[in-house]
Amino acid sequence: YDPKIPPYLSSDKNSFAYISARDRWPIIITQAIDDIFQATRNAEVPEKISEGKKIVEQLAKLKYEVQHDRVLTPLPEDGEPDIADYNRELEALGNPKWFGGPWLYIECYLYRRIAISFSLSNHWKSHDVFHRQKISTFRSSLPAVTELAHQYEQIVSTMHSEGVHTTPEQEKLLFTEVMEICLWGNATDLSLLTSLSYDDIQKLQGAEARKRAEKNILANDLPEVYDVLIKLRENGQPGEERTIDIILDNSGFELFVDLILAGYLLETNLATNVILHPKSIPWFVSDVLPRDFFDLLSALQNPQRFFSESSEGSSDATPTAPITAEQVSTLSHLFNNLSTHHSEGRLIIRPNLFWTSAHSYHRLPHVNEELKADLQASQLVIFKGDLNYRKLTADAMWPPTTPFRDAIGDMAKGFRVLALRTCKADVVVGLAEGVDERLKKETGDTGEARKWAWGGKWAVVQFSDGKNQ
Ligand code: F6P
Ligand code: MG
Repeated sequence: YDPKIPPYLSSDKNSFAYISARDRWPIIITQAIDDIFQATRNAEVPEKISEGKKIVEQLAKLKYEVQHDRVLTPLPEDGEPDIADYNRELEALGNPKWFGGPWLYIECYLYRRIAISFSLSNHWKSHDVFHRQKISTFRSSLPAVTELAHQYEQIVSTMHSEGVHTTPEQEKLLFTEVMEICLWGNATDLSLLTSLSYDDIQKLQGAEARKRAEKNILANDLPEVYDVLIKLRENGQPGEERTIDIILDNSGFELFVDLILAGYLLETNLATNVILHPKSIPWFVSDVLPRDFFDLLSALQNPQRFFSESSEGSSDATPTAPITAEQVSTLSHLFNNLSTHHSEGRLIIRPNLFWTSAHSYHRLPHVNEELKADLQASQLVIFKGDLNYRKLTADAMWPPTTPFRDAIGDMAKGFRVLALRTCKADVVVGLAEGVDERLKKETGDTGEARKWAWGGKWAVVQFSDGKNQ
């Protein structure tokens, strides 16, 4: 079921794959080492301390292997069934080196390998080595968080007030706005943006920035998605369930906007249930784990405590503006709204090991029957972010004008798929003729490299209705 088009390789110097492997992975591993080093210093139980030191050694060895382009070694068993898949594929790829194989596989292997050091310990099994980074970046988001929470409060109260009528045009505009907020929430992921300052992060968020960015959406299928959802709502039978699934990407601000989207879909009855799909192990630095979901809710519930503390044990100097009583009340409205949806079973969080496998989604219908059935029953499956897009397209070197539905393989059959993705990697499909060439010229890219697509400045919103045969 893999496409015939070859995938991007970590050895390809024209691709972001190579830059990632050479420059970014060693930094990410170093940050992980710093975290566990600090956490070990704070630990008291002797066995925990010695295990912590062992993990530091293992991660240092991993960094050495990456930087010296060693062969990827089979993953040791940690009791989870995905290890066998990883190792089978490693063999099928002919035991590649770090700079000599498919970017997608090798990058997933990297995070699975980091996770093993923890899962094989007794005291660090549930330690999220990226947790402190996630928290401290979310703290910098307070202005945008309160702005959006305030808008949400107004939307909900307008919707429920007597005698207020919104026109279909207004409803469609609001839908577009919420979806685009959710899209651009993906621009602030940690694996790329750790070097940004507090001011930079704030500039990326907020209404102004969104308006400016609309022209940067290179393909936008939102009108079609809206029509589909409206029809489903109109034709729905009373008591019938209409579920929307969101395959989550990053924690912090992005998860926050995903929850705003989920709440909006439920409040407008565009869905009766929303299922959120997080990861099961620390993944691509900032991806959502179930714990991040609950942490976010508790930050909304206790904003004073969360937003005015500096990160525990962290040396970063995130400025913390005092939080006002009005902001507290806005955030607690959002907390009450979302936690009611959650406790009444409309907002569900459902992990699956498939999301941290190295499989592209071309294989999903063939290797995971349960997930296939679940997602085919959904009225819409929203895939957030860059990595999900790479997996949907198998991270293959498609010509950029390939129609989206042709690039997602069997995910175009029987699944309604919507990708909300800011571009942070080479693969891109569904562009109009000439767009790639124009952007290459404008950004001064010479030769093969598609650097315009690496930095999260451009985005695509692409839909496949599931009817490809
Ligand atoms: O391209 C850089 C990168 O780390 C990719 O490896 C990955 O696809 C992406 O960024 C992560 O971004 P996102 O959080 O949007 O999936
Ligand atoms: Mg991510």
